[in-house]
Amino acid sequence: SKSAGKLPVIWIETSDSGDNNIAFMNTTYPYLGQVLSGLIDLLYSNTFMAAQGKDALNILEQAATELRGKFTLVVEGAVPLKDNGLYTVIARTENYSLTARDVLTWLGPLAKYVVALGTCASFGGVSAARPNVAGSVGVRDVLKREVINVSGCPVNPDWFVGTLAHLLLFGAPELDSLNRPALFYGFTVHRHCQRRSYFDQGHFAEKLGDLECMFSLGCVGPRTGADCPYRQWINHVNWPVRANTPCIGCTNEDFPDGSSPFFTP
Ligand code: SF4
Ligand code: F3S
Repeated sequence: SKSAGKLPVIWIETSDSGDNNIAFMNTTYPYLGQVLSGLIDLLYSNTFMAAQGKDALNILEQAATELRGKFTLVVEGAVPLKDNGLYTVIARTENYSLTARDVLTWLGPLAKYVVALGTCASFGGVSAARPNVAGSVGVRDVLKREVINVSGCPVNPDWFVGTLAHLLLFGAPELDSLNRPALFYGFTVHRHCQRRSYFDQGHFAEKLGDLECMFSLGCVGPRTGADCPYRQWINHVNWPVRANTPCIGCTNEDFPDGSSPFFTP
């Protein structure tokens, strides 16, 4: 069949800003067309698909049934629990509303792998930030099974596409203590930062734009796992510290509340 050798994916977008699917579309090696034609078989996506309404729901039901135990469930965004989860509804019929929580508790046990895409899906993130009006949580708080967290706000496309490629070619990747693929999150930003020599010698920036280490301005690179300093962003050309802004810890479990205010005046 057309999908032979590809990773079957059901992708549910829940409560988020959509930044992760935009980041995904910026994938360069491989580029988006290669991912969609050669790496994954995108069976359902409430963001990318053309089908709407009952047709879309039928596709979801059919995919979940026919590929039970074989598909990878990608969840992008946090899961609101307050008021029966009604802040994110994936489908509505004459008889019932299918909330994000309903879809996850339905599909979670049927999936081969569950991938939480972005920090909202992984840990709650911005969607669960104070005062968390919708009572949002990460996927791991809804499903009683292993969830592979691919955090980031947004995700670096390499982290996500690389995780999908690993699942297809080698199975589940080695995970760190936050259940993230260790090959992307295993070292801190601080470890490989180009300003590390300034830190080691105690030379600190006084204001944004100074060349020295920005620990003095609130950089949380020392407690943030990610390979940004050498992988970089937007076709691998730049990253926050090189662009004169401190790391704000976007891959962290406590982002954003734990690292705000982002700049120490
Ligand atoms: Fe570490 Fe941040 Fe300083 Fe870089 S700028 S050396 S990540 S504290
Ligand atoms: Fe995020 Fe820090 Fe990298 S804010 S993009 S983990 S440098």
